[in-house]
Amino acid sequence: MEEDYLWWQRGTIYQIYPRSFMDANGDGVGDLPGILARMDYLQWLGVDALWLSPIYPSPMADFGYDVADYRGIEPLFGTMGDFDRLLTDTHRRGMKLLLDLVPNHTSDLHPWFIESRASRENPRRDWYIWREPSPSGGPPNNWLSVFGGSAWQYDEETGQYYLHSFAVQQPDLNWRNPQVEAAVFDVIRFWLDKGVDGFRVDVIYYLIKDELFRDNPPNPDYKPGEDQYNSQRQIYTYNRPEVHAIIRRMRALFDEYAERVMIGEIYLPVAELMSYYGTNNDEAHLPFNFQLILLPWRASVIREAVRAYEARLPAGGWPNWVLGNHDNHRIATRVGRAQARVAAMLLLTLRGTPTSYYGDELAMLDVEIPLEMVRDVQELGKPGLGLGRDPERTPMQWDGSANAGFATGRPWLPISPDYALYNVATEQEDPASMLRLFRQLLALRRSSPALSTGSYMDLPSSSPDVFSFLREQDDERLLIVLNFSHEARVFSMGGGSAEVVLATVPGHGGFVELALLELAPDAGLILRVGQM
Ligand code: GLC
Repeated sequence: MEEDYLWWQRGTIYQIYPRSFMDANGDGVGDLPGILARMDYLQWLGVDALWLSPIYPSPMADFGYDVADYRGIEPLFGTMGDFDRLLTDTHRRGMKLLLDLVPNHTSDLHPWFIESRASRENPRRDWYIWREPSPSGGPPNNWLSVFGGSAWQYDEETGQYYLHSFAVQQPDLNWRNPQVEAAVFDVIRFWLDKGVDGFRVDVIYYLIKDELFRDNPPNPDYKPGEDQYNSQRQIYTYNRPEVHAIIRRMRALFDEYAERVMIGEIYLPVAELMSYYGTNNDEAHLPFNFQLILLPWRASVIREAVRAYEARLPAGGWPNWVLGNHDNHRIATRVGRAQARVAAMLLLTLRGTPTSYYGDELAMLDVEIPLEMVRDVQELGKPGLGLGRDPERTPMQWDGSANAGFATGRPWLPISPDYALYNVATEQEDPASMLRLFRQLLALRRSSPALSTGSYMDLPSSSPDVFSFLREQDDERLLIVLNFSHEARVFSMGGGSAEVVLATVPGHGGFVELALLELAPDAGLILRVGQM
């Protein structure tokens, strides 16, 4: 039965990057009152849950992923009053609100770290990971920071190094210290008590590092010139076996509350990703599945990835799919605008909770960032490798007015040059727009038990460029046929005819013959089929 599923299984998640969604006070940076002002849009669109990237006080070295106070609201974004209003309004509209928990590290300006670095004897010294220099001088081992260079930073005052898996301004907490766990769990309680519906937990697989601080071995597949972080196999710095016990205890805390969701940010191969469901579904509800972001956009590749993912899911584990986020190039840039429509259809018809990224519903593109406007710590740390994340973080395009209706003041990142064509107001008026397609897909998914909770079965394909599958529940049976190429293709399956429910391109409508279905370039179709 449909009702047996929880909201985070039936619903879709929409990620908001608060700096870039809507600026209500004219300082060029998005804020909570801005989000509140756009709630009608989000409800019209038809998403079920909003996930906000961090909104806590932060020096913004990594735009909020460097938290200076886990229980406050960054003044740039508003006040706790604004947050409470947003939470109330979200719930009043029947939607859910998820926050971002960043437990692996704090800001170097968090009071915990200020105390920790004050002296070796400070009671909070052991809340972070401090080590002596190596015997020959220099960093304690060869661990690398994701954002470039050594993961160790020397502290002159106390003569030791601290670990930062990310930026120098993001010291790693020491999760082997039970006081750290207790303090972060109190933070989780604080927000869940307020009524927040769950968390996306930042780099949850990084929480524990090798107890012996062993050097990471070299990566034999590394090619010089690539991101230096890939020069090692990171076997001692993340995905350590001890992390699962922590996640289990974290999950138990979530389970003290009704229907809260715990999502883990985990970039690992599928086999390892699955271990984050726990041995008995007692870890993350949804270990984020980033395959649609990471894999080459080919029908045969994606089809096989879905098959393998479904096959590996543990009993009772609920699938999920992510198409974009604030760390990766936008889908419309990765696959082109025509295929982005196919991708949206795929995301919203696969089995499992879909997560989409603000602006992808408009087919927003990455925006080229002039050198002098680069803001991202990763691009600043490792320039020129194409790793900058500013391009996918540019302001939401609301209308054709100045600054795309995002802000009255100068936006913190440039607005896309094509905003006059691709924006909410324009696309709402255009029946052929990406936005209208996205909204129809969301509405269809909501009203269709087959799509929201039904079974999944892939079908043999008449072309390597076509991915087709069936979703089925009770007497509802939908056939999804996706042409991943920019050329016409043919799909054929048995006989009989089927009704076109939704298509990504014009020209497909009414009833089609399944024995010989000619697919237009970039065509994705949702078909209603009878018993076969
Ligand atoms: C996660 C976030 C990313 C951030 C990093 C460090 O990967 O998604 O934006 O820079 O963690 O917190």
